[in-house]
Amino acid sequence: PPNSNPAGDLTSEVLHALSKADPISSAETFANVPFESIKAALDRLASRSMVTYEQVEREEAYLEPEAETIVSHGSHEARVFEAVRQAMDGLSIQDLESKIGDKTVTKVGQGKAFKEKWIKKDGIKLVALVDSINDVTREQLKAIQETRRHDAKIIADLKKRKLLRMQKVISFRISKGPKFALEMVKEETDLTAEMLASGAWKTATFKPYNFNALGADQHAGALHPLNKVRQEFRQIFFEMGFTEMPTNQFVESGFWNFDALFVPQQHPARDLQDTFYISDPLKAGRPAPTSADDKQDYEEYFQNVRQVHESGKYGSIGYRYPWSEDESLRLVLRTHTTSISAAMLHKLSGQRTQDGRVPPARYFSIDRVFRNETVDATHLCEFHQVEGVIADYGLTLGGLMEFMDMFFGAMGVTDLRFKPAYNPYTEPSMEIFSYHKGLNKLIEIGNSGIFRPEMLEAMGLPTDMRVFGFGLSLERPTMIKYGISNIRELLGHQVDLNFIQKNPAVRLDKN
Ligand code: PHE
Repeated sequence: PPNSNPAGDLTSEVLHALSKADPISSAETFANVPFESIKAALDRLASRSMVTYEQVEREEAYLEPEAETIVSHGSHEARVFEAVRQAMDGLSIQDLESKIGDKTVTKVGQGKAFKEKWIKKDGIKLVALVDSINDVTREQLKAIQETRRHDAKIIADLKKRKLLRMQKVISFRISKGPKFALEMVKEETDLTAEMLASGAWKTATFKPYNFNALGADQHAGALHPLNKVRQEFRQIFFEMGFTEMPTNQFVESGFWNFDALFVPQQHPARDLQDTFYISDPLKAGRPAPTSADDKQDYEEYFQNVRQVHESGKYGSIGYRYPWSEDESLRLVLRTHTTSISAAMLHKLSGQRTQDGRVPPARYFSIDRVFRNETVDATHLCEFHQVEGVIADYGLTLGGLMEFMDMFFGAMGVTDLRFKPAYNPYTEPSMEIFSYHKGLNKLIEIGNSGIFRPEMLEAMGLPTDMRVFGFGLSLERPTMIKYGISNIRELLGHQVDLNFIQKNPAVRLDKN
């Protein structure tokens, strides 16, 4: 019997079957053998040219439940005929119905039995016209139940009557190959020292390399999806002439995170509820140069910021509240990377070209920021912010909108919508929306604006220089691109390492 081999290796069975008939069909010779087992044996034999085979697809017919009832009880018409025949002097329709016990069977069966001229009406009664009938439908279905096939016309007819359903079955047509033999020669997988010494290599048969075999899984490290998307964003920035800002500090003073950005000290964003404060150490030193070539006057800048908040400056009336240095020097986990942008713009204001002008600049960063938020399916208390600033002369709001179209267009996000918004440090400000096909609605994808003079002039930037800024999260586009609905599948201890290993290399559809 075909599957008597405990190792499940059918090679020998295939060879013996082929020695008796050529070609053979796996559907007949190996009817009950699993597809994979026969395929494995054929591949082994074919790799040695002992057999050739081709895949054959055919349809098999399976009985629907109604057809199974017909096989066991007879067709509707046969049951009607039988009931009428048994009643010696005819049967009223009512009696027929109660005898058969099924309205549909009675109705359909009657119609067909009339047509076949098996019964006729005699007054109000039905009487039989013949002594016996041949229940063709039942016979056909019975045959199909056993062999799964029949004449094409009969199959088509029964299918139309919804008695059959078809199923594709794959089998193999197997023939002898050029090196056909009844026994498989033992194949060597390695050339050994012993074979060389004894000369056995001269007559040995070597197993051919299987170049179709997949390599073994290499459990190597893998890049996290966020890192991959980050890499693509960086590339877009570099292509647009941006320089990357150094963001390697999670802790900032309130000064850089808020005050430098003209965020008043009473602003709700500075609340414990929104911002994580550091308890040890409590305070930062005053802003100071971070490198020897930084010639900026940080003390003057610090006082400018104090004044613009407290009493106003640069044509602004300020917020008019007593500005606290202590509050400004509290340490926070940065809530945005705009703190870095502020420090970079302040440094920029100290640079001059040969004609004495502050040069235009484009900066970006992608790094972690922290917010004291309630954790849910789409929010953690930290995320990666993608941030960009463009400093130049003669920039306009229209220019910012066009830039956003280009920037998002580069990652395949088109059809942006802009909505007026508010940031303490930009005026005007715009939230950026895009239509999300999956969610079937507009979703917010970014925040942007033109930095206020209160912020820029305090740094010493020229009054005719304009600076665009924008920010978005890295997580949102990553989740959309990878079809993840819960952020915990992307970050944290619940992440499936298989997902990290196997996720595709290319994420953003670019045009
Ligand atoms: N800091 C803003 C945020 O956290 C982003 C932004 C940056 C907006 C620069 C305007 C200008 O969403």
